[in-house]
Amino acid sequence: MKEILRLDNVEKYYGRGSSLTKAVDGISFTVNEGDFVVIMGPSGCGKTTVLNCISSIDDVTSGKVYLDGDDLTKVSRKSKNTIRRDKLGIVLQDYNLLNNLTVYENISLAMSIKGIRVRKDDPTILKLAEELDIKDLLERFPDQLSNGQRQRAATVRALVTSPSILLADEPTGALDSESSSMLLSKLFHLNSRNGVTVLMVTHDVFAASYGNRVLFMKDGMIFHELNRGDKTRKEFFDEIVSIYSLSGRRNISAD
Ligand SMILES: Nc1ncnc2c1ncn2[C@@H]1O[C@H](COP(=O)(O)OP(=O)(O)O)[C@@H](O)[C@H]1O
Ligand SMILES: [Mg+2]
Repeated sequence: MKEILRLDNVEKYYGRGSSLTKAVDGISFTVNEGDFVVIMGPSGCGKTTVLNCISSIDDVTSGKVYLDGDDLTKVSRKSKNTIRRDKLGIVLQDYNLLNNLTVYENISLAMSIKGIRVRKDDPTILKLAEELDIKDLLERFPDQLSNGQRQRAATVRALVTSPSILLADEPTGALDSESSSMLLSKLFHLNSRNGVTVLMVTHDVFAASYGNRVLFMKDGMIFHELNRGDKTRKEFFDEIVSIYSLSGRRNISAD
């Protein structure tokens, strides 16, 4: 199985002395091609920092990040930008669509930036838009869409350049439960049918239950891992809840 991403003992500290924050405190994991990995943990545990170390928004304090064979801790800033553009698709909680462009233009801009020629009624865009159920919305502007539709548009934009991996940071954080389920089912199908490799971080057990592997994070560290195996989503959900509540109890007794 091809390895897409590997973190080896990554640490990311902010500040120094008495104001030192160990945002990421020695994390190692691998994402193989076709995986749907979820990092789950409470707010402030370091999930976004992990993604920022992968997307080179942050430089790691120590440790290694390998993306498609490139050691991101060794390459120049310029190469990092190229690698991010060419290999990563990124979906954030708040969409980041440009409001003065239509959905179609937002998506095609991502292709142009990567140097991909965009055709009229581009088949790659239309196919993905259909899969994410926004095909009828392509000529609209982002402010004419619901939050769920905006997030699905942002997902098309992230995937239209065929990245090696989709990074999603709390993609359902601003969505109602119906839009959340819809987006998560789409991500699940993109992964299981189309082989899209996904790394999603979330504080939400329901969102986590759509993944195939869940890494539990607390205080900058991964303390447990679960594999879905052949469990249903509901069974996996129950299993994740049991680990999560266990860690909560540990928390309380430790305090
Ligand atoms: N740029 C920064 N400067 C200082 N501290 C930061 C910075 N970014 C994040 N942190 C701190 O690192 C910790 C982890 O933050 P973050 O990765 O955003 O957590 P999560 O995404 O899980 O909510 C928090 O204590 C946060 O306050
Ligand atoms: Mg975060």
